[in-house]
Amino acid sequence: MTVSPKSNAPGTALYGTILGGLPKDVVVDLLQPPLPDPKVRYRDLSIQAPELRARLLNVVDELLRDGRLLMGPAVEQLEELIANYCGARCCVGVSSGTNAIYLALRAFDIGPGDEVIVPAMSWIATANAVVVAGATPVFVDVGDDLNIDVSDAEAAITPKTRAILPVHYTGRLCDMRSIGALAGRHGLLVIEDAAQAFGAADESGRAGGFGDAAAFSLNPMKVFPGFGEVGAVLVNDPKICERLRALRYLGTVNKEICVEPSLNHKIDTIQAAMMLVSYDGVEPTLVRRLEIASRYCRRLKDLVGCPEAPRSVADRRSVFFDYTITTPRRTEMRRFLEARGIEVKIRHPLLMSQQPAYRHLNHRPLPNAEYLVKRILSLPIHEKLDDGQIDYVSEQVANFNSTVASSL
Ligand SMILES: Cc1ncc(COP(=O)(O)O)c(C=O)c1O
Repeated sequence: MTVSPKSNAPGTALYGTILGGLPKDVVVDLLQPPLPDPKVRYRDLSIQAPELRARLLNVVDELLRDGRLLMGPAVEQLEELIANYCGARCCVGVSSGTNAIYLALRAFDIGPGDEVIVPAMSWIATANAVVVAGATPVFVDVGDDLNIDVSDAEAAITPKTRAILPVHYTGRLCDMRSIGALAGRHGLLVIEDAAQAFGAADESGRAGGFGDAAAFSLNPMKVFPGFGEVGAVLVNDPKICERLRALRYLGTVNKEICVEPSLNHKIDTIQAAMMLVSYDGVEPTLVRRLEIASRYCRRLKDLVGCPEAPRSVADRRSVFFDYTITTPRRTEMRRFLEARGIEVKIRHPLLMSQQPAYRHLNHRPLPNAEYLVKRILSLPIHEKLDDGQIDYVSEQVANFNSTVASSL
C-alpha cells in the first residue's frame, strides 16, 4: 500500500511522486515530528561539564590568536593520535565520513567498470560514495548481527569485483578474519566503513586497522565526536597515503601543483584542535556505553530481539553506537514509547538497495536484510543516560509487550 506524503513533507514539490511511491510505514516515519521535550533523549550532544567546555573554548581561543586556521599542527597531531589508536600507519583527516569512503576508493583507483560489495543495510553514505567514485555497489545480505553476511559476499563476487566494503554497523565489528580470508582468496581489497565503530576491537585489532583502508566519520553523533562534519581515512601503504593527501586537497602536491583532479576535502583545523581535547572522553564514553548495553541486554533479552551482550566493559566487539532491537510490532512499539516520552529512531527504514536512487540496479535476493529492516528500532543510548532512564525504557518495552502487543 502506498500513501501520498503530506504537502509539508520536505522536498515534496520536486520529489513528491518518488516519496508517494514509498511504503506507507516509511512515509509515516519520515513525517513523524520530533518529540518536543523527551523524557529520555535518543542522543544528547550537549557538553555540560564546565571544565571540558572551558578547555574547548580555550583551545579555540589559542587557535584564533595563532591564526593557523587551515591544516597545521593540530591536524597532524590528531591524525597521528587516530592512526596510533587504530593500529594503522597513516591517517588522513578529511571533511566527513562519506568523503573518507569516497577518497579511499579513489586512492585505490576504484571507479568505472568496478564493482564493490557492500551490505544492503547501512546509511546511504556507503553506497553513494561508491557510486560517486564511479563504481557499482553490489548489495549483499546481512546476518542477524546486522553486519555483512560473508558467504553472501562470496557468492556476489564477479570478475568485476575490486573490493569488499564491510560496515561495522551499529558499532559492532564485522567478522574481519573471514572477510580478510575471502578477500585474500579472490585478490580483493578490503575497505572498512568504520564510521560508527571507533574503538570497536577483537583480539586481533581495532576497527580501522584491519582493511587496506578504513573510513571514519567523526561527526558529533559518533563515539569519538567532532564538533561538526569531520572524517578520517586510514591506510598502511605509504604511496596510497601520499595519494590520499593529494586527493584531499584538489589533487595537489605542495598545495600548488595539481597532479590529478579532485575537490577540497580538507579537515577543519578548529575541530581537530577541539578533538585533541575531547579525546580524553573517548574511553569513559566507551565504558559507559558498554554498561548501558549490558543493562539493556539483561532487561530486554526475553522481550525483544537484542544485540549480543558485552562480556564486560573490556569486550569491545561492539561499541554500541546504536542499541538496536528487533520487534515485529515496531510501529506500535515506537508510538507507545514516544507517548511515554522516549525518543527512539528507525535507523534506517530503507535498505540502501530499496532507496529510490538505487532501485533500478539489479539486486540479488536480500531476504534477511529485508526481514530485519522492517523490525529494527534503536533505543536511546548516550553516555549521559542514567540507570533510572535505562530501566524506565526497559520497563516501557515490557509494558508494551504485556499490554499492547498481547491485544493486537
Ligand atoms: C555507516 C556510515 N557510513 C558512512 C557515514 C557517513 O559519515 P558522514 O556523515 O560523516 O559523512 C555514516 C554517517 O553516519 C555512517 O553511519
